[in-house]
Amino acid sequence: MSKIYAVANQKGGVGKTTTSVNLAASLGYFDERVLLIDLDPQGNATTGSGVDKVEVEWTGVDVLLGEVAIEQAIQKISGSSYDLLAANGDLTAAEVELFNEEDRLQRLSTILEPLSDTYSYILIDCPPTLNILTLNAFVASNGVIVPLQCEYYALEGLTALMQTMDRVRETQNPALEVKGIVRTMYDARNRLSIEVSDQLLTHFGERVYETVIPRNVKLAEAPSYGRPIMYYAPSSRGAYAYADLAAEILDRAEKEEKVKAEITEQHDG
Ligand SMILES: Nc1ncnc2c1ncn2[C@@H]1O[C@H](COP(=O)(O)OP(=O)(O)OP(=O)(O)O)[C@@H](O)[C@H]1O
Ligand SMILES: [Mg+2]
Repeated sequence: MSKIYAVANQKGGVGKTTTSVNLAASLGYFDERVLLIDLDPQGNATTGSGVDKVEVEWTGVDVLLGEVAIEQAIQKISGSSYDLLAANGDLTAAEVELFNEEDRLQRLSTILEPLSDTYSYILIDCPPTLNILTLNAFVASNGVIVPLQCEYYALEGLTALMQTMDRVRETQNPALEVKGIVRTMYDARNRLSIEVSDQLLTHFGERVYETVIPRNVKLAEAPSYGRPIMYYAPSSRGAYAYADLAAEILDRAEKEEKVKAEITEQHDG
C-alpha cells in the first residue's frame, strides 16, 4: 500500500514545492518507489523537476477529468529517482469543471487506487489555497506534511488548516492526520524563528519533525536548473537537510508499522 502524503499549507511561499520535490528525490534515492503529483496550477513542482510545463502532453487536469489514465499521464524524470504527474495553468479548469460533479472531492482518491502496489510513496504538492484541488489531496491522503516558516502568524494559519482537515476527517477520510510539521527556511540566528519554533514544539510536540530545513541559497537556485537539490548541489546544507527529513519520515513509518503489527498480534493472539 502506498503512503500518500499531501504537502500543504494555505500560506503561500512557505516551502511546499521545495519540500515536495526534494523529499520525492530523497525518498527515491533511498530506494523507495516515489510518485510526485503536482496539484498546483502554478506548476512549480513540474518546472522544478525539469519538465517544461507548456510542452507537457498530459497533466493532472486530464486525469481528474477522466480524459486519460493516470498511468499514461505519469512521466519518468530522466536522471532522477521519482515519477511525476505534471501540472500547469490548465489545472484551474479542473476546479471549475469539477464544481458540479457529485464525486468532485473523491476523484483523486479513486484515480490513485490502482497505483497502490506501484509506489511506496505518493507526495502531492498542493496549491496555497484550501480549494477543491487541496481537498482532493486531503481525501486521497493518509496524512499531511505541513511545511512551516517560523514567522509571525505562522501558527494562526495552522488553525484554518487543521479545521479544514477536521472537516475532511469527519466527512470523507477518517484516516487523515497531520503526519508532521517541517520547519523550513530556518534561521537559527533569528530570535523570532527560535520563539515561533518553541511555540510550535509546545503545541504540536512530536508531530514536529526533528529535522529542520535551513535557509540555503542552493535550495532557491535548484528549481531554475530543473533539478532537485541532491543532484544540483549534493553536498549543500539543503541537500543534507532533505536527506535527513526523508530518513526521519522512513524511520517514523517503520516504527508505526511495528506498532501496528504488535497490536494486530495481540488482537489475534
Ligand atoms: N530552505 C530554503 N532556503 C532558501 N530558499 C528557499 C527554501 N525553501 C524555499 N525557498 C525558496 O522560497 C520560495 C518559496 O518556496 P516554495 O515555492 O517551495 O514555496 P511554496 O509554499 O510551494 O509556494 P506557493 O505557495 O507559491 O506554492 C522559492 O523561491 C524557493 O526557492
Ligand atoms: Mg508551491
